[in-house]
Amino acid sequence: MLTGKKILVGITGSIAAYKTILLVRLLIKANAEVKVIMTPAAKEFVSQLTLATLSRNKVLIEFTQDEEWANHVMLGRWADIFVIAPLTCNTLAKMATGLCDNLLLSVYLSATCPTMVALAMDEDMWLHNTTKENLKKISLAGNKILPVGKGDLASGLHGEGRIAEPEEIFKEIQTILGGYKQLQGKRALVTAGPTHEAIDPVRFIGNSSSGKMGIAIAENLQRQGALVTLVLGPTYIPSPIKDTVHVISSDQMYAACLDSIGLYDIIVMAAAVADYKSSIISEHKIKKSNDDILDMKFVRTKDILKAVGNSKKPTQIVVGFALETCNEKENALNKLKDKNLNLIVLNSLNDAAVGFGKETNKITIFDNKGNEYLFDEKSKNEVANDIVSTIIEYQNA
Ligand code: CTP
Repeated sequence: MLTGKKILVGITGSIAAYKTILLVRLLIKANAEVKVIMTPAAKEFVSQLTLATLSRNKVLIEFTQDEEWANHVMLGRWADIFVIAPLTCNTLAKMATGLCDNLLLSVYLSATCPTMVALAMDEDMWLHNTTKENLKKISLAGNKILPVGKGDLASGLHGEGRIAEPEEIFKEIQTILGGYKQLQGKRALVTAGPTHEAIDPVRFIGNSSSGKMGIAIAENLQRQGALVTLVLGPTYIPSPIKDTVHVISSDQMYAACLDSIGLYDIIVMAAAVADYKSSIISEHKIKKSNDDILDMKFVRTKDILKAVGNSKKPTQIVVGFALETCNEKENALNKLKDKNLNLIVLNSLNDAAVGFGKETNKITIFDNKGNEYLFDEKSKNEVANDIVSTIIEYQNA
């Protein structure tokens, strides 16, 4: 139920607008308070009267209506969420550039609540580079973007560009507003951050992973109702997860994970674990010598993910990461198979958005049933959301 939740629904000029009538009905049935704003173009597709009757509120289109001023700033502050469905290419482009030539856009630009959009367009428009660029911009600005579906389009063509179904949009609204948690009762283990492999009492070999991606995944799983344990390597980022086990080395991370692995339904290993550690840890600080070269020997660390994959129960979902610079897909699929994973998240270092410490990421996910999911460059929180949504989809399939 969405009792007491205030939902602002924006409708733009697309044939898919008729589906928003069903969305408004679902929201009202769930006890939400609904207000509808339309662009002038949307009037051509759905009637103001229908939406006003269903939403039990006056539908707003112009800045002034019946000699009253629609206070766009207060509308954006009134709402718990602003859902724009359908969103056309035209309004998307205006949102990406900050244009405000109608009431809906002014509300968008001044809204302080989360915004979610469900796009609808023909496949050629959907695939156009400008659309992709605009989507990237509004995603980085924090908007939740619902993926388009594939099927028959209003043009008579068949392809990508269909608006998400009203039930899907409704479910996402419930998830965002906390009314519906898709992982309630599940337990999840996440690893994040680097590991430090000691050489002597004051030195180590490490990497510059910040742990941001894994932490964002842990938070997202928690928001979906899962009970999360985070095993976190040494990072400057404070953990927002109550049940966090802080570790330093790969051996400590291995022990923290494997000790209780049978408890978890979902295991996501996002840590950048060192592949090698020093063969000996000197008891005392290694002193300089007169030699120009210091020889050291390294030995392989234990592969935590592989151990987890090989011991997993059929009900457990294990997710790994692959950071690649070449033969990306082939390497990721080999890791998926070799480590007996359900899903693998590929980051290609050839993408400018990808790298340790960056605010954005660009991923492709492969599952062990042969499916491939491609995602655009997004903020790490949005990427975490995509990863968790894919895990939920996999779990429910
Ligand atoms: N991983 C792990 N334990 C290790 C090494 C890696 O759990 N000792 C996990 C990481 O958390 C990540 C995945 O394995 O989910 C990365 O796989 P890996 O094959 O180690 O990738 P790379 O470290 O990139 O290896 P390579 O250099 O061989 O590509």
